[in-house]
Amino acid sequence: MSVIAFYQGEFVDPAGARVPIEERGHQFGDGVYEVVRVYGGRPFLLDEHLERLERSLRTIGIRNPYTAEQWTGLIGEAIRRSGEAEAQVYWQVTRGAAERVHTFPTAEPAVSLVVRPVAAKPASADAELLGLPDDRWANVFVKSVNLLPNVLAKETARRAGAAEAMLVRNGRITEGASSNVWLVCGDTLWTAPADRYILGGITRLFTLRLARELGIPVREEAVTLDQLDRVDEVFITSTTLEIQPVRTVFTDRALLPALRQLPEEAPTTLLPEVRERVTLWSATRPPELTARLQAAYQTAVERFRNHEPVLGRA
Ligand SMILES: Cc1ncc(COP(=O)(O)O)c(C=O)c1O
Repeated sequence: MSVIAFYQGEFVDPAGARVPIEERGHQFGDGVYEVVRVYGGRPFLLDEHLERLERSLRTIGIRNPYTAEQWTGLIGEAIRRSGEAEAQVYWQVTRGAAERVHTFPTAEPAVSLVVRPVAAKPASADAELLGLPDDRWANVFVKSVNLLPNVLAKETARRAGAAEAMLVRNGRITEGASSNVWLVCGDTLWTAPADRYILGGITRLFTLRLARELGIPVREEAVTLDQLDRVDEVFITSTTLEIQPVRTVFTDRALLPALRQLPEEAPTTLLPEVRERVTLWSATRPPELTARLQAAYQTAVERFRNHEPVLGRA
């Protein structure tokens, strides 16, 4: 029952593990990462995570140091060593350690990995989201370790009492700081398309499969701020959250223009305070469709724990 760490080919003491000072992940954020949930001692949707890892690496020109089989073996071994049935595995691949110059070094990619136990998800109250301008770069489909905008958005949300940010680019709802955002209009599920402006979540992918199984119509289209008054339910998804219902979406009045278009002038802070709360959306009916998807997700996880096919009878 412990945290397990792996760095550059070896399992290491997580408390004593050291990364070289000229490691490019540390100096440039020059790397990508993945997080997979472990249920019943096995990684859930690992093939999908490995495919996304490969795509992220290929896109930024880092050689994938392992084959899918090698990744599967390494992750399995790390979970086995942890002895944890309920855990999460975080791993990253960076461009390696080399003298600090921007251009690519000849260094080999560096792999680090951590397994940590996860407590069973508490039945959480419905979340609140803070609407914030999505001012990230235009390639957020790469699961880069460069998470400064996401970190700032999440902290800004936390300070405002919200569980998560809802990022809005040019009036269109993209995603959360570390989750995908879903909106239910009538009987139809809407979520932003998996283009360059969102991180195509693996939980998003799986939720789309569940929706198909349940016969729920889906539109992979961004909902705009102006359409929020037609929205009946909101929820967010991620590997660690699974499916989380949302009760309210709010923002600060001063941020409203930036949600529609980023102003040219540099802001004085990237940690804006909510001084005048404006409700963008709030739930008016029980989240029925969200609850159906949550139940289907839990059924799939139970099937996975029991080594049964996860889809088919969701
Ligand atoms: C920006 C962002 N969007 C979406 C997600 C959800 O992705 P996944 O379902 O693969 O965990 C994450 C997860 O960390 C994220 O960081």
